[in-house]
Amino acid sequence: MSGTAYPGVMIFEVAAHSYARFMGRFSDPLAVQFVQLAGVRDGQRVLDVGCGPGALTAQLVQRLGSRGVSAVDPSRSFVAAIHDRFPDIAVQRGIAEQLPFADRVFDAALAQLVVHFMTNPVTGLAEMARVTRPGGVVCACVWDHAGGTSPLSPFWRAVHDLDPRAPDEAGRPGAREGQLEDLCAAAGLKHIEPGTLTVEVEFATFTDWWEPFTLGVGPAGAYVSQLSQAAREDLRIRCAQLLPPAPFQISASAWSVRASS
Ligand SMILES: C[S@@+](CC[C@H](N)C(=O)[O-])C[C@H]1O[C@@H](n2cnc3c(N)ncnc32)[C@H](O)[C@@H]1O
Repeated sequence: MSGTAYPGVMIFEVAAHSYARFMGRFSDPLAVQFVQLAGVRDGQRVLDVGCGPGALTAQLVQRLGSRGVSAVDPSRSFVAAIHDRFPDIAVQRGIAEQLPFADRVFDAALAQLVVHFMTNPVTGLAEMARVTRPGGVVCACVWDHAGGTSPLSPFWRAVHDLDPRAPDEAGRPGAREGQLEDLCAAAGLKHIEPGTLTVEVEFATFTDWWEPFTLGVGPAGAYVSQLSQAAREDLRIRCAQLLPPAPFQISASAWSVRASS
């Protein structure tokens, strides 16, 4: 998943519809709350950093119109998906650590579920501040992978039941309470306000929940992809044992931070 244009960067070169089925079901409702936290208002110019296929972009376009929104992501497939979905917004390939914009051109810069994938989160957040006008808003959120309330927590719990030494996402930057604030402070941001955002997502069947993990999206998808057929089946069965009987609801929380540039 690493891209040659951006060494070390976790690039999501997957189809937008695969991402939507895997994470979009959680990031779409999260974006509704995140955009409220940022206090985005009509007439502003806002940057969506690590836009993916557009969960947050859609909320921004709804509030600001296409001319008020710019977006950036290192993934070719996601940038193409944004072009198709929102032909009039300014979207380009790029990474948070080297934002391709002049200083102070945005009223706000927002990163939904991106800081934990940045190779250098402090530089990424400092870049978000650089492109935002003085006193403008910088906001970020990251799932609570360390505290066990991320949408992927049941999956990683099952993985570790079967393979205690398997990697997970708990150690990623910003995934633990307090880390986003520390990263923002290190990036020189001001008026740092921490918070939590929680979404509830319904699943009619266990298969609805499980099948998107087989699409190769993100670290969880990459983990499933490298398993043998038998190990994958063991993991599927363990997940089914850990989850409640269908239909069930997953409650997922993200750490958030709102700060000033
Ligand atoms: C979990 S997805 C979030 C996408 C979208 N913001 C959402 O909420 O659905 C993480 C996104 O971050 C992008 N990404 C990874 N490393 C990045 C970096 N260093 N700078 C900006 N975006 C990055 C990936 O390509 C991917 O689209």
